[in-house]
Amino acid sequence: MKILVIGGGGREHALVWKLAGDSRRPQVFCAPGNAGTSRIAVPVQVAAEDSDGLFAWAQAQRPDLTVIGPEVPLCDGLADRFNAAGLRVFGPSQAAARLEGSKAFSKDVMLAAGVPTARADFFTAYEPAAAFMRKVGAPIVIKADGLAAGKGVTVCATVGEAEAALKAALVQRVFGDAGARVLVEECLQGEEVSVLALVDGEHVVLLDSAQDHKRVFDRDAGPNTGGMGAYSPAPVFTDSWRAWVLEQVFGRMLAELRRRAIPYKGVLYAGLMMTAAGPKVLEFNVRFGDPETQAILPRIEGDLIPALEACVDGTLTPAHLRWKHEACVCVVMAAGGYPGAYRKGAPIVGLDAAEALPGVNVFHAGTAMRDGRVVTAGGRVLGVTALGGNLAQAMENAYAAVGKISFEGAHYRRDIAARAVTRKTM
Ligand code: AMP
Ligand code: GLY
Repeated sequence: MKILVIGGGGREHALVWKLAGDSRRPQVFCAPGNAGTSRIAVPVQVAAEDSDGLFAWAQAQRPDLTVIGPEVPLCDGLADRFNAAGLRVFGPSQAAARLEGSKAFSKDVMLAAGVPTARADFFTAYEPAAAFMRKVGAPIVIKADGLAAGKGVTVCATVGEAEAALKAALVQRVFGDAGARVLVEECLQGEEVSVLALVDGEHVVLLDSAQDHKRVFDRDAGPNTGGMGAYSPAPVFTDSWRAWVLEQVFGRMLAELRRRAIPYKGVLYAGLMMTAAGPKVLEFNVRFGDPETQAILPRIEGDLIPALEACVDGTLTPAHLRWKHEACVCVVMAAGGYPGAYRKGAPIVGLDAAEALPGVNVFHAGTAMRDGRVVTAGGRVLGVTALGGNLAQAMENAYAAVGKISFEGAHYRRDIAARAVTRKTM
């Protein structure tokens, strides 16, 4: 069996690792991958954004299954092209990927479906947007409508900050066309949780919950990043909320999409705020989360391929996923300066020692091989991941592994999962 995984980050390393370990022992290819994936998958020198190149490769190599990691190729319609060519692909169509590709579309579907979410209005001109924003008042959230590489959302504490965010998007056009339309959104308070579901067009199976840590420094200080760590499961997301979200969020969204003749296949990720009035949706993503995937996949017992195939075939059942009782924590080690400017090319030492610890996986995100050595090649460099009997143990194991690894300028948060651990022992 041949499997192609598209993407080159920590999420894709985790996917490649899980799929390569399947009992069918597939041959896994990863386009373009990184130094970590290249140890267990055949590297394909095609960028994840190069839809033509990926399609040409797949036409020639005919993989039995393709898993698309990032949102850009999905929003570009790559899954549609694969399907039309009879290539089995895990990932939603271009029409369905608009749930992530357009925040205005996503909000429109949520409102029509009756899914709980923050109130919002959208604008294409600065003056009316600013007038509305002042009427609502701060704190308030400004969101670029389109894909902005994770930088399109500004949570504004003051009216002044919100004015600056609106000007940046609508006047200075810092996000290009992606910010030609903005959402001005009510600011929700609470704890965030990521709930991902496998969807086969009709059936939905929730994955266990996870929590991301978006701010760069401990205690959620400093600027937002692509994610400094994650853990799973998230105790804030109780079983009763799980049943509720399955129906009130996923059930309703998929029913509304079906009504619009947009069937959904793949993974659907709901970013939820657990507010005092219950969970509300902050955003949908149409792909696996990063770094949530690194903390979720090690907890899945047995094979993942049958579940992904069932999504493609429309035969998904809850029995396709079994969970370990262990918890998992992923600590991201980032390059000095990240999320600002950072240097590349620093040699990384201690990877083998870290991976020799029981239950530890070091998922590479921004790495490359140079002269036979693993070097840094991105802002988020590694996702150091460990299982443990509970969250506290998983946290201890993950930080023990982090302690074995070093590279110049490395920094990481010391409190990944700390909030959940404190909550559980209180
Ligand atoms: P995104 O870049 O779309 O992943 O969103 C970034 C982050 O912005 C989310 O994870 C939340 O932390 C925050 N956020 C988005 N919408 C809201 C909202 N309505 N209220 C409060 N925070 C929000
Ligand atoms: N962890 C946030 C995301 O994947 O968008």
